[in-house]
Amino acid sequence: MEKMLISGGNGFLGSHLAERAIMEGLKVTVLDDFSTSNRVNVPTEVTIIKERVEDISIQDHFEYIVHLAARPSPEDYILNPVETLMSNSIGTMKLLELAKRGSSRFVYTSSSEVYGNATMIPTPETYYGYVSSWGIRSCYDEGKRYSEALTMAYHRKFGLDTRIQRPFNVYGPRIRPDGLYGRVVPRFIQQALNGENITIHGDGKQTRSFLYVDDWVDATWRMITMDDLDGNILNIGSPDEITILELANLIVKKTNSPSKIVHVEKREDDPVRRSADITKAKNLLRWKPETNLDRGLQETIEWVRRDAM
Ligand SMILES: NC(=O)c1ccc[n+]([C@@H]2O[C@H](COP(=O)([O-])OP(=O)(O)OC[C@H]3O[C@@H](n4cnc5c(N)ncnc54)[C@H](O)[C@@H]3O)[C@@H](O)[C@H]2O)c1
Repeated sequence: MEKMLISGGNGFLGSHLAERAIMEGLKVTVLDDFSTSNRVNVPTEVTIIKERVEDISIQDHFEYIVHLAARPSPEDYILNPVETLMSNSIGTMKLLELAKRGSSRFVYTSSSEVYGNATMIPTPETYYGYVSSWGIRSCYDEGKRYSEALTMAYHRKFGLDTRIQRPFNVYGPRIRPDGLYGRVVPRFIQQALNGENITIHGDGKQTRSFLYVDDWVDATWRMITMDDLDGNILNIGSPDEITILELANLIVKKTNSPSKIVHVEKREDDPVRRSADITKAKNLLRWKPETNLDRGLQETIEWVRRDAM
């Protein structure tokens, strides 16, 4: 039976990936310190090791190592900048060493945040990024950029089979919905369902492009299992841009909510526009997003109503 190690596998994306891997007949081990996921999210067949990735003690051999452990919410990583950098510097190095020892395939989950305030929209993988190396978001953005560089260094120097993905704003059931760690989609849904004000940072004209979690799992599974992808970096997202104000209005309409939209202080270094050029993923993975925002939001709203209120 092939074995997969998923760091951060108890989180939103990792738990969906763990489920898929179990379904495909793999033996899955999750390494997670439960810092941003507060309850067990994975199926009972999964072995859970509660440990920080930067302190990893496990020495087993895995065919696949997927590094997802990170603190991805601005509200959280701004308060924990050192921890945020450690999981995506020392943590990445420790997992790369484990992969090198076992000749494992190594899949690194980076982020569209490596592009920073991109001036090329939709943004292709070849865009170098416009990122502050010292601002309040740098602990996250630069950790991802350093990890990409280290992953490519192991690929070039040791011939390790590595693949890097850059997801763009993934949402769906199991994304942590509470205030502190919540990201924009679950936060707006919670506020709308509770009849509270919907809080938009700044004027709401900033754009994002959202990808439903099932589409992310599908793309990620292909990235992990397909041959001849080593050394590749792929955007995994959607090219469909929507302003945050439009998103808020859509959620108010879909939840039939009496909530009002209010504007609060703009976030420092908040990217102005974000949209993924997914030409490369379409060609190499023979993949494209299948769930539109309307349907994905419906599924997510139903999940929040059912499981997260
Ligand atoms: N969800 C998105 O839209 C998105 C977009 C781009 C990139 N990503 C990346 O995907 C990965 C997963 O994100 P997510 O949305 O599932 O977030 P999440 O917070 O739900 O999951 C991250 C998991 O990592 C764990 N973790 C954090 N620091 C750790 C450490 N030092 N050691 C061990 N475990 C640790 C957390 O407890 C959590 O279970 C992250 O690397 C994130 O940067 C996510």
